[in-house]
Amino acid sequence: MTLPSHHIDINQADFIANPYAQLETLRNEMPSYHDPVWNKTFFTRHAEISSLLKDKRLGRTMLHLYSREEIGWPPPDVRMKGFRSYQDNVFMDMEGKSHTRIRSLVTKVFTPKRVESLRGRLEQTTHKLIDAVQADGKCDFVHAIAEPLPVVMIADLLGIPESLRHHLRPWSNAIVKMYELGYTDEQVDEANRAATNFMEMIGELANERRAHPQDDLISDLVQVNEQGETLTEDELRATCIFLLNAGHEATVNGSSLGLRALFQNQSQFEAMKEAVLQNNSSLLKSAVDEMLRYETPLPMFERYVLEDMEINGVQLKRGSEVGLFYISGNRDSARFERPNELILSREDNPLLTFGLGTHYCLGAPLARLELQVLFSVLFQRLPNIHAAGEAQFAKGFVIRGLEKLPISF
Ligand code: HEM
Repeated sequence: MTLPSHHIDINQADFIANPYAQLETLRNEMPSYHDPVWNKTFFTRHAEISSLLKDKRLGRTMLHLYSREEIGWPPPDVRMKGFRSYQDNVFMDMEGKSHTRIRSLVTKVFTPKRVESLRGRLEQTTHKLIDAVQADGKCDFVHAIAEPLPVVMIADLLGIPESLRHHLRPWSNAIVKMYELGYTDEQVDEANRAATNFMEMIGELANERRAHPQDDLISDLVQVNEQGETLTEDELRATCIFLLNAGHEATVNGSSLGLRALFQNQSQFEAMKEAVLQNNSSLLKSAVDEMLRYETPLPMFERYVLEDMEINGVQLKRGSEVGLFYISGNRDSARFERPNELILSREDNPLLTFGLGTHYCLGAPLARLELQVLFSVLFQRLPNIHAAGEAQFAKGFVIRGLEKLPISF
């Protein structure tokens, strides 16, 4: 089958704010297409995205199988040296043995018990953030609550001292710009600087924890050992930074997009209020998943094709790239009943928001807990919460979120 050719400028403000109609048309009329500008084959349906994510013939890299020359990749871009010193050691971008080794080491210390132990601190932090704005009767939800909460939690979990925490958000922000399709020279410089400084800071903290271990993930990762396997120094630093970044970027966007979705769906807003008042934890859980399905904070991920293959008549060549619109799969009527409606009590909800397969989000239990606690405390404390102006989307589609969500209460 010859693939249709089609281009979407995913960085257009209109598409970022509301990609749903275009993606629905594509699901119906052109479920996969080749985009000559991004040079990728995009998939839009839930079924194909799910099966590709579980398919070992695709990977986040090819370098575990082939050298750069064999794939025909140019040598690494020297302009990106600082950024690469970090990114090349991020296990999310590894495949095969290296990925399995580091993922199992991290899983050994980032346990469900450790996540659950954060509940009290999460509640306390959310209350504190609300205390700070309650008397004003209004605030920007993103800056006052959505952003600081996951940053505090992930910094606590890793063990970043208060005095260094102000670096986390700006450095992380500079680094994640490299994941968008398209960036400027200035953004490359900033990402290099941020990654270099970040690697250095974590290295110093790791040395401290080697000498004086504490009850935190940096100390655990310094010591972790599974059948003789440990993390190298660069892997250790990059893993900590990756957890810090992954641990807040998407959660900030998940909670602010979720609250906006509630404002736009009055009956579901009331249902959420009711669930919190009645302490209905099962509805709260399904509500958080539904908000994360309805608005997907990380809408698109890419994979390399590791060997020539075919899916539903679409030929994929070794070395080519695919783009998977998780955000589109999450609204697919072939998989979800009434996909364009926010239904907090939705039971059958195989959301793609946390991915699937080998790279399934390691932080999903923490993200879910954070959002459950946040919405629960928010509606208890501010039952009259409402939108107080236009929400404003941030630039960038690959990491999709709000820059502003004015609220009053
Ligand atoms: C709403 C919040 C979050 C969303 C939407 C999200 C989404 C995702 C997705 C889609 C992936 C897979 C990427 C792919 O398919 O290529 C992923 C991987 C990952 N996430 Fe999350 N995430 C969230 C929060 C977190 C948190 C709080 C943490 C940890 C502290 C975290 C840590 C990770 C890690 C370590 C991976 C890499 C797993 C691997 O490659 O084996 N995430 N996340």
